[in-house]
Amino acid sequence: MPVRQPTPADKFSFGLWTVGWTGNDPFGTASRPALSPREYTEKLAELGAWGITFHDNDVFAFDADAATKERALKDVKDAADGAGLVIEMVTTNTFSHPVFKDGGLTSNDRGVRRFGLRKILQAVDVAAQMGASTFVMWGGREGSEYDGSKDVYSAHERYKEGLDTVAGYIKEQGYGLRIGLEPKPNEPRGDIFLPTAGHALALIGELEHGDIVGLNPETGHEQMANLNYTHTLGQALWHDKLFHIDLNGQRGLKYDQDLVFGHGDLMSAFFTVDLIENGFPGHPDGPRYEGPRHFDYKPSRTEGMDGVWESARANMATYIALAEKATAFRADPRVQEAVAHAGVLDLAQPTLGPGETAKSLLAEEDAFDPEVAAERDYGFVALQQLAVEHLVG
Ligand code: GCO
Ligand code: MN
Ligand code: MN
Repeated sequence: MPVRQPTPADKFSFGLWTVGWTGNDPFGTASRPALSPREYTEKLAELGAWGITFHDNDVFAFDADAATKERALKDVKDAADGAGLVIEMVTTNTFSHPVFKDGGLTSNDRGVRRFGLRKILQAVDVAAQMGASTFVMWGGREGSEYDGSKDVYSAHERYKEGLDTVAGYIKEQGYGLRIGLEPKPNEPRGDIFLPTAGHALALIGELEHGDIVGLNPETGHEQMANLNYTHTLGQALWHDKLFHIDLNGQRGLKYDQDLVFGHGDLMSAFFTVDLIENGFPGHPDGPRYEGPRHFDYKPSRTEGMDGVWESARANMATYIALAEKATAFRADPRVQEAVAHAGVLDLAQPTLGPGETAKSLLAEEDAFDPEVAAERDYGFVALQQLAVEHLVG
């Protein structure tokens, strides 16, 4: 059955660098032409996207002068407005130019750090000017290859200093922007600082302006660390820190594949969409992710321009198909029965009763028999099989 067409109500957005990737990698040169930001924008709108996102240097060159930058920004804003697309997120490139080879905010070279911070602040101004609501910070070059090359204590001091400077500036300027930190374990650095969502959340907890700093977790980045992306989204939601998402596909512990969403671990993608669309099963009024469904993928280097547009369409079609299946899954009485049998909803009940304390719990002699409880069959496998049948059915 063909999947319905995406509409702006689906809130699908794409980085200009995704469809705009020309296929150059460490082993080969571009395999496709580079189009203008305007052409990518117009085509994405035609395919049913709602928004676009970009790095400063997706739109103007690293060394562009002020007039050139303004012209380029006006052109992309006009293109987005003309196509009816929102520019929902803007970010900055502090990884391509060799000046950033040892990082932007955590380079050992103080002059580089000051230059990097200035570039980030300028991109914040651009984000506000474009009407974006999120400013993503992916510190791809913040890290090291060699443990002897970094004072990790100082690196975290400088990361904190940089983030607080950026977040403080956003507040001072009265910009309606929130920062989304994007964790990644490695690539391009051997080890990147803030390798997982947990590391990033811990740093956010130390910030002065952490209230406007949250997460932009990417499917593949969690999976490169052998972690569960859906759990990451769930914990970020629990912390009220899920500010933005980067959806894509990854098959196991490899280089960052940036495949189409669902072209990696499809079962995991199903539960990711289920969480986004249906929320927590035991908390129907609990926190929900209401932000953009943002794709950060790369159309494989084997594809020409037809394949680029086909892959953009594929991200949206897969998301829609999974959303429909997740809705049917939750509505299925067999699933509801299996969920109840499994005790999924019972986990919402506090372990202690009202007024109970550790001491009163210790004092209580209850009739609970661990041997009987140990015999419980949770039926998790049957529940998972229902998910599989919905997915492939
Ligand atoms: C990557 C990252 C980037 C960031 C982008 C926005 O692994 O290359 O995911 O694509 O998402 O730079 O900050
Ligand atoms: Mn990636
Ligand atoms: Mn990303």
